[in-house]
Amino acid sequence: MDTKILSGLEASKALFDGLLSRIDNLKSNGITPGLAAVLVGENPASEIYVRNKTKKFESLGLKTDLFRLDSDVKESELLNLINDLNHNNDFHGILVQLPLPKHIDSEKVLNAITPTKDVDGFHPENAGLLSIGKPRFVPCTPKGIMYILNHFNIDLNGKHVVVIGRSNIVGRPISILSSLKSLGNATVTLCHSGTKDLKYFSKQADILVAALGSPEFVDASYIKKGACLVDVGINRIEKNGKSRIVGDVNQESVTGVASSLTPVPKGVGPMTIAMLVENTVLSAELLLN
Ligand code: GUN
Repeated sequence: MDTKILSGLEASKALFDGLLSRIDNLKSNGITPGLAAVLVGENPASEIYVRNKTKKFESLGLKTDLFRLDSDVKESELLNLINDLNHNNDFHGILVQLPLPKHIDSEKVLNAITPTKDVDGFHPENAGLLSIGKPRFVPCTPKGIMYILNHFNIDLNGKHVVVIGRSNIVGRPISILSSLKSLGNATVTLCHSGTKDLKYFSKQADILVAALGSPEFVDASYIKKGACLVDVGINRIEKNGKSRIVGDVNQESVTGVASSLTPVPKGVGPMTIAMLVENTVLSAELLLN
């Protein structure tokens, strides 16, 4: 069986093409969508993620500012910055890159972002809206997964979606999105570190979402023939003295068994950035209504 590569570069380009006229419309109304990105400390991976996000905003002619804070910043100082950004009309979206240093209560910080600027979709108000089937800001990675599947005509309707990983950022929201009647209308199984006999479930998946954060964990023995694999992992590993990025799926092992897969890199990653732009545009558009 040929395994089709579902390119996140191709799908994100299609999304950006559609966003251009929305951005033009906002600009003709005097609004330039703006993102405030907040980075605390010097986590090398976070530096790269934030840089990729802000570069994309700049390339589209959107406003973006990066607010850097030292790793030992007081929680109250970070909360003050968020309060300022909540009231700053230049920014329609606020992103606090995770993870935060251990002395900071991440939940408190994310909850301090005003829900109408919460373009990450992590605030309980936005998480609640999603869970009752009225999504406003949906977390970027699961939203990007829905987009890429739709772009490549992978229909979830009536299919069995199995998700591995129950994080608030990916696993739980993708399980909700794919089960919503108006979106995926799939049957969903959410597996996690407490799941007994994971293979029993993963082998039933028509669409398997691997979001467990374990390098090349899913090999051919975990899947059924013809499954579509969505690889959310971004893991840095050392192999033969070289450092490289791999996903949660062992691409070599599943090639020829899966019908399609999102590669790492250039699969889900570009979709996450694309959806951050989409959410920021959406937030700016709320001002027009
Ligand atoms: N860290 C890993 N993924 C994400 C994300 O989607 N948003 C933020 N803010 N931090 C992250």
